[in-house]
Amino acid sequence: MRVRKAIIPAAGLGTRFLPATKAIPKEMLPIVDTPTIQIVVEEAVQAGIEEIVLINGRGKSSLEDHFDVAYELEHTLAARGKKELAEKLARISSMVRLVSVRQKHPLGLGHAVLCARDVVGDEPFAVLLGDDLYDAPRPAVGQLIDVFQAAGLGAVAVMEVPAGQEHLYGVVAGDPISPGRVRISHMVEKPAPGTAPSRLAIVGRYVLPPDIWPILAETKPGKGGEIQLTDALHGLAKSKGLIAATLDGERHDAGDRLGYLRANLAYALRRPELADGVRALCREMAERR
Ligand code: UTP
Repeated sequence: MRVRKAIIPAAGLGTRFLPATKAIPKEMLPIVDTPTIQIVVEEAVQAGIEEIVLINGRGKSSLEDHFDVAYELEHTLAARGKKELAEKLARISSMVRLVSVRQKHPLGLGHAVLCARDVVGDEPFAVLLGDDLYDAPRPAVGQLIDVFQAAGLGAVAVMEVPAGQEHLYGVVAGDPISPGRVRISHMVEKPAPGTAPSRLAIVGRYVLPPDIWPILAETKPGKGGEIQLTDALHGLAKSKGLIAATLDGERHDAGDRLGYLRANLAYALRRPELADGVRALCREMAERR
């Protein structure tokens, strides 16, 4: 079955980025000159997604405005001879159909996804975390859609994390079925140090069947008092089955301060007009220490 819709949760408090996130969501923070969320939306569009359900909370107007037509700005830019820039802005508002849903209280990622239930309905869907970036030769979520379609089962992206960092993630364990693919038997959200069942950590891309909805609706608050998507996925793994897939590409956690700086450097180094300047800057900074 085709995957046409994607949910992008962007309603978290973003406490790690306060005070920057006091009035705007962390998903609006720029990677070089482009909000993180725009890069995530572009990935979904490139993978063939036709409708995005944006879950927003505080500061929602900046998210909605970003994907709306900015008529005055476009008109002013065009009048000043900056036609290319005006067209670049116009493309953002026309690239995909976007529906926005409010998560009134940040009760957790599982709850954020559940807020989209009525809009998504009875069909498979993707979830892309609005603060997780994948710099990949093929859109990461597109790779995951292929896994979902080949296996006929929900699929989550995972990556092997260094020993000692498992407690920062949802961690999966299970039986390898092919290179880079594991059939999940067990999942745990942020395991206490030393108790993780493996080093395979869930990173922000999921493709799920509608069977997840009733499970999610029944999921009680878990780690940190939040309704955890990982807990609902554990239920799905046990009832229908779930695949963990290692994807091609480099993942950046733009919701973490160091991860955000790293993502900025990595994306800047790929821009011909900035690469040399960034390299020189890094050398200069390293020598100064
Ligand atoms: P995070 O745990 O990274 O987001 O959630 P956070 O809670 O905003 O971050 P910190 O720890 O306080 O800095 C992963 C994704 O899920 C969304 C976030 O916006 C982020 O994109 N999320 C999280 C929601 O939409 N609603 C929630 O209730 C929680």
